[in-house]
Amino acid sequence: MPHRAIGIFDSGVGGLTVFKEIAALLPEENLIYLGDTARVPYGTKSVETVQRYAFEAAEFLVAQGVKILVVACNTASAVALPALRQRFKLPVIGVIEPGARKAIYSQNRHIGVIGTEGTINSGRYPEAIRTLLPDAQIFSVPCPLFVPLAEEGWAEHEIARLTATEYLQPLITAQIDTLVLGCTHYPLLRKTLRQVLGSGVTLVDSAEETAKSISQIFTQEGLSIPEYGGQRRFFVTDVPTRFERVGRAFLGAELDRVEQVQIG
Ligand code: DGL
Repeated sequence: MPHRAIGIFDSGVGGLTVFKEIAALLPEENLIYLGDTARVPYGTKSVETVQRYAFEAAEFLVAQGVKILVVACNTASAVALPALRQRFKLPVIGVIEPGARKAIYSQNRHIGVIGTEGTINSGRYPEAIRTLLPDAQIFSVPCPLFVPLAEEGWAEHEIARLTATEYLQPLITAQIDTLVLGCTHYPLLRKTLRQVLGSGVTLVDSAEETAKSISQIFTQEGLSIPEYGGQRRFFVTDVPTRFERVGRAFLGAELDRVEQVQIG
């Protein structure tokens, strides 16, 4: 690539929701995406394993000469961000802090957080929200079935609605007015979540908030070199077929020329 790119990685297709928002806000930037599809999911794996995977994904992108690294995976952001920031000498952006910054606009300070087991067990969202809003009451629920439902194309299926009704009941009981979608797959379930929660609950999309943060950083630090930009490259660690097919719904566009690489 003629100019240094924004490097974005996730365990698989989910981070394409973040990619899509970044591409919309910074259309002139070159973007390189890595989906670690050979080792997805991260959400059910141990902290040590996810940290190792995140390091290897980051190393690959840094070797491509990226100017900023976006950890477009809530689970990896939850457990590996400080270590990545220490290891790599470039800005490293996760998806948790931007989501937390938006969540604190809650009126009644009852905030729900949903994510993978790894993200919820890490306690990183409550920690990040309480740093900004110490008296927030936070109710966290892992929703592991949302990931396969989104990948199956069933995000708006009756099964998704029933699953959401079951998962979200404690959050409805807790009278949350804000729900953080703490997993890259969950923006696809937005309609279903809205149906179950009603219109009184604000949905915070970490993907959108992360893209806004990156755009601000680019303006503040003069990181933009847009003249010859706008190129997109996609890499995966397993054969691209499934990524190309499932990824379409996440990106809202065709995925072509996806390259397979080995990392680690
Ligand atoms: N991308 C992951 C996340 O945002 C969800 C998929 C996985 O478990 O790897 O946490």
